[in-house]
Amino acid sequence: MFTQFLIFSLFFTPFIFTAAHDTHDFVRTLDRKMLGLDEKQEKLSHFRFYWHDVVSGRNPSSIEVVPPPLKNSTTSFGSVNMIENPLTLEPQLNSKLVGKAQGFYASTSQSEITLLMAMNFAITEGKYNGSTITILGRNSVYDKEREMPVIGGSGLFRFARGYAQLRTHWFSPTTKDAIVEYNIYVLHY
Ligand SMILES: *[C@@H]1O[C@H](CO)[C@@H](O)[C@H](O)[C@H]1NC(C)=O
Ligand SMILES: *[C@@H]1O[C@H](CO)[C@@H](O)[C@H](O)[C@H]1NC(C)=O
Repeated sequence: MFTQFLIFSLFFTPFIFTAAHDTHDFVRTLDRKMLGLDEKQEKLSHFRFYWHDVVSGRNPSSIEVVPPPLKNSTTSFGSVNMIENPLTLEPQLNSKLVGKAQGFYASTSQSEITLLMAMNFAITEGKYNGSTITILGRNSVYDKEREMPVIGGSGLFRFARGYAQLRTHWFSPTTKDAIVEYNIYVLHY
């Protein structure tokens, strides 16, 4: 009888305990002080980069990983490009490199050239070296000015939110290479 109780206890008490703990321990309210956020003012920063979508040549930074599934689609609906696009200070590709835009874009419209873009801007220069800004949004590439949300970040961009405004600086209809100016307005600590 006792051994049976022992076996019962061994098998079932952990579950009872876990259940009781789960409801209390997986989330708690923190004081902002614990992350040092009370002393830090949230600040607004403006970044300007040139984003280079190099699809042609021997060293493309943007590679089509899913070809358009419908052969007759005029918008390449469903195609996906994986990118690691250089971010430079000036429009020239050989100007100072300050980071890389890593992510992908996918054609999401059957009637116009509109992309879903998911990117991490990984900064490699200065104070923000090692920090990232995450952008997720809709890009109607032929509009003069487009806007996409900044949905978060890491490192110095923890709790980041904001938006990116972009305009095409240069586009080659023959190679499909593009240079896009990004102005990013971001609130962060
Ligand atoms: C593409 O082809 C499909 C099937 O053949 C057809 O239903 C569709 O209307 C076509 N789309 C266009 C844009 O021509
Ligand atoms: C950026 O950080 C990396 C990793 O810590 C380091 O190797 C690199 O030298 C830094 N770059 C600059 C320009 O400070």
